[in-house]
Amino acid sequence: MRGKKIGIIGAGSVGATAAYSLAMMGICDEIVLYDIVPGIAIGKALDIGQAAVYSPKNTVITGAVEPSDMKECDIVVITAGVPRKGDMTRADLLLINVKIIKETVENIKTYSPNAIIICVSNPLDVLTYSVYRLTGWDRKRIIGMAGALDSARMAYQINAKTGNIIAVTKAVVLGEHGQSMIPYPKLSSVGGVPLDQILSDDEIADIAVRTRDGGAEIVKYLGTSAYYAPGRAVSVMIEAILSDSRIVIPSTVILEGEYGYRDVAVGVPVVLGEHGIEEIIQLDFDATMQEKFKVSVNAVKEGIALLEEHRFFD
Ligand code: NAI
Ligand code: 2OP
Repeated sequence: MRGKKIGIIGAGSVGATAAYSLAMMGICDEIVLYDIVPGIAIGKALDIGQAAVYSPKNTVITGAVEPSDMKECDIVVITAGVPRKGDMTRADLLLINVKIIKETVENIKTYSPNAIIICVSNPLDVLTYSVYRLTGWDRKRIIGMAGALDSARMAYQINAKTGNIIAVTKAVVLGEHGQSMIPYPKLSSVGGVPLDQILSDDEIADIAVRTRDGGAEIVKYLGTSAYYAPGRAVSVMIEAILSDSRIVIPSTVILEGEYGYRDVAVGVPVVLGEHGIEEIIQLDFDATMQEKFKVSVNAVKEGIALLEEHRFFD
């Protein structure tokens, strides 16, 4: 039987860390890295491949020189893109990265036509939507990674406040991967105990702010964006898909009427399994959450409208 093969397009910090995490977990047979700069893909593949000698499964990692060297992947992760520089607006960044996504999607359609795609590049929700439009594939096969990372950041902040009680911390963050993300304390718990029974309102509010600003906090110290937690989050999603574990992970998906919205991508809880998105979980929001969700959806819609204005999908 053919082994499980993962393609990663963009062998920069997040792409390489995802590959390293996958190799250390030993959950796939083969990983192919592709980067517009071939030396990056080849060099990192060699380094990670040598680390994989000590992993549970001797995962084979190769660097692709041409897009055609990355064939028949079960899952393709998109981490290609340019970072936002000082004088760039969010719109500038979107218009640059969406062109990279377009080129990337053409290659995935040609060489891995049956793959599930996990989009990581920013702006995450708009680019996940673009992948959906550009592939024309079933929305189950197009997933954006953000909720897994933002929820881990929230769990980290909860643990810091509760003094790292030895218990399973569950945190849920929904909505856009940006300023309007929605940390959701109601669905968050420590050892099964709801958050509002362990922490004060002020403490929970502080957790929400620190979660939302978690990415920026790392940029402040590193001068570049995070990659360990993002890379790990990607590998956790891949594990759920390859093992058909059907666990719930907040992820960015295309809504087709769920939560009252359609033709937009945003973070909601989904069941991940062998087909990608097995189910979108519909939560019953109170009026406050409905309003927050609307703000988040509208932020994504603004980006989509900009692409429509530029006739990007014509
Ligand atoms: P990076 O700059 O380290 O790596 C990006 C790589 O993409 C570079 O090696 C570059 O050569 C490559 N690249 C550029 N154009 C390409 C093309 N046309 N084809 C193939 N490769 C190409 O950036 P990093 O830190 O790895 O971040 C990657 C993306 O992920 C960024 O857009 C970043 O904002 C995003 N990100 C998203 C997160 C999320 O939660 N969704 C979390 C962290 C990062
Ligand atoms: C992050 O949240 C930059 O999206 C990236 O770290």
